[in-house]
Order: sequence, then C-alpha cells, then structure tokens
Amino acid sequence: MESLRIWGKHPLSGHVTISGAKNSALALMAGALLCPQQCRLNNVPNLVDIRRMSQVLKALGVGISQQGNSIEIDASNLTTSKAPYELVSQLRASFFVIGPLLARLGVARVPLPGGCAIGARPVDLHVRGLQALGAQVRIEHGIVYADVQGRGGKLRGAKMYLDYPSVGATETLMMAATLAEGESVIENAAQEPEVADLANFCRAMGAKIRGAGTNTITIVGVPSLHTTDYSIIPDRIEVGTFLIAGAITGSEISLAPVIPDHIGPVIAKLQEMGPEVIQEDLNRLRVIPKPLRATDIETLPYPGFPTDMQAQFMALMTLSEGNGVITETVFENRMRHVAELVRMGADIRIKGQNAIIKGVPMLSGAPVMATDLRASAALVLAGLAAEGETLVKGLHHLDRGYEKLEQKLLELGAKMERVAPVDS
Ligand code: UD1
Repeated sequence: MESLRIWGKHPLSGHVTISGAKNSALALMAGALLCPQQCRLNNVPNLVDIRRMSQVLKALGVGISQQGNSIEIDASNLTTSKAPYELVSQLRASFFVIGPLLARLGVARVPLPGGCAIGARPVDLHVRGLQALGAQVRIEHGIVYADVQGRGGKLRGAKMYLDYPSVGATETLMMAATLAEGESVIENAAQEPEVADLANFCRAMGAKIRGAGTNTITIVGVPSLHTTDYSIIPDRIEVGTFLIAGAITGSEISLAPVIPDHIGPVIAKLQEMGPEVIQEDLNRLRVIPKPLRATDIETLPYPGFPTDMQAQFMALMTLSEGNGVITETVFENRMRHVAELVRMGADIRIKGQNAIIKGVPMLSGAPVMATDLRASAALVLAGLAAEGETLVKGLHHLDRGYEKLEQKLLELGAKMERVAPVDS
C-alpha cells in the first residue's frame, strides 16, 4: 500500500485546473449502455474508479477505447446481461448498470454492491423503482435478478416516489425510464448536478427528460437513442477540496473551470468561516485566505451541504477559532477520519452523528491511515497545514477519486512525495 509523505506549512500559490466530475463520469458511462451506437465522453478523469467501470462495461461485451481524457463507448453489441461480482463489488457505482441493462435487454443480473467503509448503502430504492417500471426483481445469493416479462421485454412508464432523494437510485431509474413505454415521473428525486449532467447526456442521445436538477423528473420513453459526443461537468468536490487547500494553508489559489452554482453551500460555509471566495469570471474562482472561525455544518442532499465535503471541512475546522459541530446525516459511518485527525493534535469528540470540534492553534504531522476517499483528502489537507511530516497511508482511496491530486498540489508549491509500501 503506497503512502504520501507531506512536509507541512509550505505556502501554496498559483492556478489549478479542475478535472471532470468522477461521479458524473461513472453515471454517464453506465448511461452509454442505453445507446446502440458508439458514444464519446470527453473530460473523463483518469482514475482507478473509471478504469474499474470500463472493466465492468467490457465484461458486458461493450467496446471501450480511451485517448487521454476521452472515452469511446460502443454498446452496439451489448451481449450479456450479467455483471461480474468481482468487479461490481469493488465499485458501488457499477450497480447503476442495472437500469440501462434492463432498458436495453429486458433482463439484468447484477450483484449487490455490498457494504462499504462509509455505511451500509442498500439498493432498496433502486429495486422498488424498477419494480414500479414493470420489472420482476428477486435477490438471491447476493445477486439482483431483474426481468421484464411480456411487452417485448420493454419497461412501462410509471410514477415513482423515492423515500429518500438517492443520487444512484434517481440515476438508475431515470436511465431505465428513457426507453420505457410511456411517461415516467420520479418524485423526491436527487437534484445533484451529476443527475442533471446524466440527463443532459441522455437528452443529447435523444431521450426526452425534463426537470432533472429539480425534485421532480419526467421522462417520456423513446424507442431508441443515438450517438453523441458529450463533455462532463467539472468536479465540484475537487473544487471544494482545493478551496480548502488554500484556506488551510493561508494561500491564494485560483481554480478553473468551475460551475460556481454547483458549489453554493460550500462557498457559503467557507465564507462563514472567514476566507473569501471571489468569482473572477464565468468559470474561475479565487480563494483569499483569512483567519478561520468555527461554524456548524449539516450534510444534506443537494442543494444542501455535500457529504463528500464533510471530512475536508472538518480538517479546516480543527484549526479554526472557537467550537463548531459537524452533523453527518447522509451516511451512518462517515466519521472515521476523526481518530486520524485527533492523532495529528485535533480536538474532536463524536456524539452520535455529530462531531464537536474545538479549534486548536496547530496540528502536528503524524502517520495516519486513510479510511475512504474523502477522508484521505482531509488527511492530505491537514498534512499540508501541520507542523512537520505527515505520512498518509492507504493512498489507494485517493487514487480512486482525485485525478493527479499530488501533481496538482506539487505544482502549487506543496512539498510531498509518494513512497512505496512501508508497513501494513
Ligand atoms: C452518490 C455519490 C457519492 C455521494 C452520495 C451522496 C456516486 C458514484 N457517488 O452515492 O459520492 O457521497 O451520492 O451525495 O455518484 N440509500 C438507501 N437505499 C437506496 C439507495 C441509497 O437507503 O436504495 C441511502 C444510502 O445508504 C445513503 C443515502 O441513501 O445513506 C444516500 O445515498 P445515495 O444518494 O444513493 O448515494 P450514492 O448514489 O451511493
């Protein structure tokens, strides 16, 4: 397991180029299965998760070719409805292929994605929605078997209400409904920008979708989709992570391309804590560091504060003046970075789903273990601000979701190096 050695307290400066959104790219790769012609996705980040998704698609008989940040996906010969367990178990987003597979083939066999470090993450909302669309679904031996009987294997439009605005369930059901007979409505849908990006991609292939990005999405099924060439939105979580890199190291950094609307709550909370965020032009932001004061944060579905920024804000709050509370409402086990931040000198107590953070004057470098993707980013941020040397172990989490993070930080002036496995 590789580690990242960081020498803290080096000021950063300059500009960082933001990559395409990982979560959009994963959903759009699944969406490309809906199309019986080759599609091209641009601005795809080069990440372990994307390579895993490519493997899942290849196992379904799909042709994939990659040049730089573009991927061509040819699902004209979608031959098998069975996604392999070894691959799906490594990447929850690969479960989302169940929607397009059912829509195209009338049958899908997809293993349950299983639990993960941040919580149980069930798929009941996906399953109930697919049943409402006319699929028969049974779960046996950890595999979800879904079939459409009769109607030539076609799903039929339906009204669906999600008990919770799940991103993945909204995406699965929206994709499934694009080729169904008649109209579908998803109520209490997730409103995340990645859902809207997937809808725009599907629309570019000829799907009829309205309301994506709001809590009610209407899809009118069409007989088939056609090829397109589509560019993925910038990664709002990467933007937020670099804004905090500036704030925590007392450095001015500019970032582009950014869609500022996508990170409203992140900017609002950062400004509440002191730092200024200036919009320099349509798609460029600059963070101006200021003394940090504590605030309270509660994670919520979009447009609330994103759970994927919770750990990074916690790192920032450890060095703020005063006490703040961070409440995690989206995932039940997403505070495992607390013990690691405490190892670096942070003063944090957990009570249920709340973390109470008392600002300290300084963090001190220490060996720490990354427990999930965003936790690893938080530890890197803490390491940049800490006195002395921090060794972040478990780097494979970071490689899953941040394109060239360490290279981008080095270009900004950070001092760090990747080191070969030390101990486990
Ligand atoms: C997506 C993102 C992830 C982000 C999360 C919340 C991708 C690839 N990943 O994950 O980075 O942290 O949204 O913004 O896009 N739930 C159920 N039943 C279901 C589905 C979900 O109970 O059928 C629960 C989950 O356990 C969780 C909550 O709903 O507590 C939110 O999950 P969801 O929005 O589905 O997240 P993902 O799509 O898995």
